[in-house]
Amino acid sequence: MTNHTLTVSAPGKLMLFGEHAVLYGKPCIVTAVDQRIRLKAKIINREIINISAPQVGIKKYTIKVSDLGKVEYPKGVKFLLKAVEIFFKKYKVGSGLDLETKSEFSSLFGFGSSSAVTVCAVKALSKLFDIEVDNKSLFDIAYQTVLSVQGVGSGFDLAAAIWGGTIFFENGGKKIEPINVNNLPIVVGYSGIKADTATLVKRVAGLHKKEREKADKIFNSIEKIVKQAKLALEDTNYFKLGELMDQNHTLLQKLAVSIPRLDSMAVSAKEAGAFGAKLSGAGGGDCMIALTPDKSVRKVKKAIKNAGGVVLNVKFNAEGVKITYDKSKNES
Ligand code: PMV
Repeated sequence: MTNHTLTVSAPGKLMLFGEHAVLYGKPCIVTAVDQRIRLKAKIINREIINISAPQVGIKKYTIKVSDLGKVEYPKGVKFLLKAVEIFFKKYKVGSGLDLETKSEFSSLFGFGSSSAVTVCAVKALSKLFDIEVDNKSLFDIAYQTVLSVQGVGSGFDLAAAIWGGTIFFENGGKKIEPINVNNLPIVVGYSGIKADTATLVKRVAGLHKKEREKADKIFNSIEKIVKQAKLALEDTNYFKLGELMDQNHTLLQKLAVSIPRLDSMAVSAKEAGAFGAKLSGAGGGDCMIALTPDKSVRKVKKAIKNAGGVVLNVKFNAEGVKITYDKSKNES
């Protein structure tokens, strides 16, 4: 029997440009953040899967391998178990497992913990079962997992978790292009409010259904912004990027996904010297980002706090999924 233990880690993400429009065939830009999820995985000699995920309230959960796909999974570990179920089915493998997750960030921030965990799971299983899975196949399995758990999603967060860096992305992974970014002087403000992505996606879908022309016009404008932002990022043109952030935020307001807290955090950051600011992600809460010249960082941070936000210290362009520990011991 092979006693194989490994640890995989994947980064969280922040959407820079193009949220919501990406679900309507437009591109977006996402960056990986230096706060990671870790998954420790081990094949065990019993036909059960033990999961410990204390940060999502699951100290210990056990499920029989034969029950995968047959029972309702607990909320905090749905993505993890669905990924295992899909992987076992696809590659016709199966075994008992010990799985343990740890996160460097709160699942409240909207950094994409579920997607990062899904990516870690598929990566870990490919190693444990010695199956060659390239990044695009990893994306496809992880995307299938996410869609089957939550129904909608562009998969941008999975791309960030897999490839890392900063990425120009199209829905479902139709385009996944790394953008050469030197540095991103961005201050991140957490609104203190948990966003409900599904509700906001539905709200935009409602608008798209009721006022299609208006919604399509907004999505087209966002597309233009995203394309210009890619160039501005490559040229390190922060004045332009800031302007584009402001414009993107205004369009998100028109989609009715912003909230007063995010608006005032963005306005305050601008008044304190940011080049530009916008909400990041679905809206309704979670985080905003402010592109900020070095000389104004302290002021912008203070302004974000005064507007009710919490400044998160994160760096961007982080490395994608990786194996951080791998110990394989052959026993007779
Ligand atoms: O709320 P977040 O950070 O997961 O971002 C959602 C972004 C959307 O474009 C609204 C949805 C998606 O899957 O692209």
